[in-house]
Amino acid sequence: MKTEIVRISGEEPDIQALRYCGSVIREGGLVAFPTETVYGLGANAFNDGAVRNIFTAKNRPADNPLIVHISDYEMLSGVAAFNNEEERRRLIALGEVYWPGPLTMIVGKDARIPLSVSCGLETVGIRMPVHPIALALIRESGVPIAAPSANASGRPSPTKFSHVYEDLNGRVDVIIDGGECSVGGESTGLDLVSKEPTVLRPGAVTKEDVMVVLGACEAYDWKGLEGKVEKPRSPGMKYRHYAPAAETTVYAGTQAAVVARIQREIRKSVGKGLRVGVLATEETKKLYKEAPVVLSLGKMGDSHAHAERLFDCLRTFDAQEVQVVFAEAVSEDGVGDAVMNRLFRAAGGRIIDCIEED
Ligand code: TXA
Ligand code: MG
Repeated sequence: MKTEIVRISGEEPDIQALRYCGSVIREGGLVAFPTETVYGLGANAFNDGAVRNIFTAKNRPADNPLIVHISDYEMLSGVAAFNNEEERRRLIALGEVYWPGPLTMIVGKDARIPLSVSCGLETVGIRMPVHPIALALIRESGVPIAAPSANASGRPSPTKFSHVYEDLNGRVDVIIDGGECSVGGESTGLDLVSKEPTVLRPGAVTKEDVMVVLGACEAYDWKGLEGKVEKPRSPGMKYRHYAPAAETTVYAGTQAAVVARIQREIRKSVGKGLRVGVLATEETKKLYKEAPVVLSLGKMGDSHAHAERLFDCLRTFDAQEVQVVFAEAVSEDGVGDAVMNRLFRAAGGRIIDCIEED
């Protein structure tokens, strides 16, 4: 398949170009487009065949449902079929504060949305993105857009046009080159169907943010079993997501202990002839001179910068043909929870708690 590349500026979106991309969606084609979180791979959410093509293009497992993107509240009817008034109230209350933006809310699904979108579930994840290109694309297509992240399944989510091009050129109709995504991590996934609202996937809108609006919120405990020193926190994790090709391990603990431990690991791996990568911070990146590839997530504690850069760093390790990656754990405060969640999954659950050496 020949993929068309359409350049659109986020500042002054070219309405003709967007109208064209919208018509491709409406007529059953696949269009990759930027959002404020990551690039999405979109199809007309009402078109069962087009939605199925998304799964093929990405090589996505058939049991992983897609998010439906809308541009205004009118589009909600035809997508959501609320199970009860409380569910509707929650969505509207949160939408008032966080839509358009990086929040996906899971509610009852309208019958017009095919089961291929929800993978057989009677619920649907809905998001109104804030990125001007994403919003205009939905508006111009005139239909809700079903879109997962625009990466090949299993690879880190795309935050730049080049990432999408790498994974999907030749597999989709159009890729919009709309620059870089500002948030970086994917949207918060919030279940509004359960008795208590529950964060299923951490993101820029935190559990605490939801609590302020709804008064209550739970969060799925993504770390699973509590860590034991020197043992991966979750050895049995089924899927490796966001994963670079390199075997990745995350080191947690005091800065001194983590740095000393990673320095030792570098020496061991270099000694074995492996090409080593380190994921560090601005403050620590100079401490790993023996590693050929050292990338910085940003300043320590700057979780927004970490979220914005993480996926690009993971892809850069691949591009640099790194074989093992040692990553410093970063702050889990606020958005940091989402960053550590993605890092944890990139590492297949391998987080090592480092102890201070004497
Ligand atoms: O920021 C984002 O959310 C990006 C942009 C493109 O909007 N999209 C994205 O989609 O990250 P994807 O497909 O990579 O992740 C969607 C997540 C998956 O973990 C999926 O299992 C979950 O949302 N999800 C979707 N619908 C669901 C549902 N009805 N119930 C439970 N989980 C659902
Ligand atoms: Mg994804």
